[in-house]
Amino acid sequence: MQKIVMPQKPTSRAWRKKHFTNDGIGHIRGYAGLVHTANQISEYIPKCHLFVEPFAGLGRISKVVKADIKILNDKSDYAYAYLQKHIPEAVICQMDWYEFTHRYIDGDVFFFDPVWSEIEYKEGCLERSFCDRSVKEYYEQVLKFVKELTELEKLCFVTGNKNNSYLKKSSLYTILIHARQKIMGGRISTLLASNKPLTRYHQTELQSSEKL
Ligand SMILES: C[S@@+](CC[C@H](N)C(=O)[O-])C[C@H]1O[C@@H](n2cnc3c(N)ncnc32)[C@H](O)[C@@H]1O
Repeated sequence: MQKIVMPQKPTSRAWRKKHFTNDGIGHIRGYAGLVHTANQISEYIPKCHLFVEPFAGLGRISKVVKADIKILNDKSDYAYAYLQKHIPEAVICQMDWYEFTHRYIDGDVFFFDPVWSEIEYKEGCLERSFCDRSVKEYYEQVLKFVKELTELEKLCFVTGNKNNSYLKKSSLYTILIHARQKIMGGRISTLLASNKPLTRYHQTELQSSEKL
């Protein structure tokens, strides 16, 4: 007799286990990134000549920003192949983020979305994405580098989860970006930080007088 498989209710335990990590934070499984907030975040990024993204993942941000040239990087084999296939107009690299960012130091806008949670990577997408240090190290190193870029008058953005203490304690300007749609009754939020006061450019051109 054929076995009838009942569809899981979207609120059942099994459904939650399949879609959310078990780290007490309840991250959504799948390739981590800005899938729910990329459009809203992109409004704060001016159109520029050279956009540099050292932790590009599946390119959720780079797909929606406007730039003459996009230079994207990710150490993960999966992300590297994905970016080559889906954003063919961009230059794609597979280097350590630090070495990559030094190589493309001539960029105008730098967007950093490092690893938010090691547990998320172990439970959700470790086999696809890359993680070689602690969250503390990622954010401390990125924030140190943003200081150097600020001295070079570059515009930088860094993202993290809504409670990211490294970004909150930093001297950067921050804003909480909420996803438009609700998921499981709540809205996903991303903390966006920048070395320049956050302005909604709506993808208009960065005027030279606005540059840092
Ligand atoms: C939070 S995800 C970025 C997601 C991306 N913003 C998106 O929305 O698709 C962080 C990314 O950093 C990459 N990564 C981690 N350590 C790295 C390193 N040392 N150098 C380069 N990339 C690294 C991971 O493979 C992962 O794709």
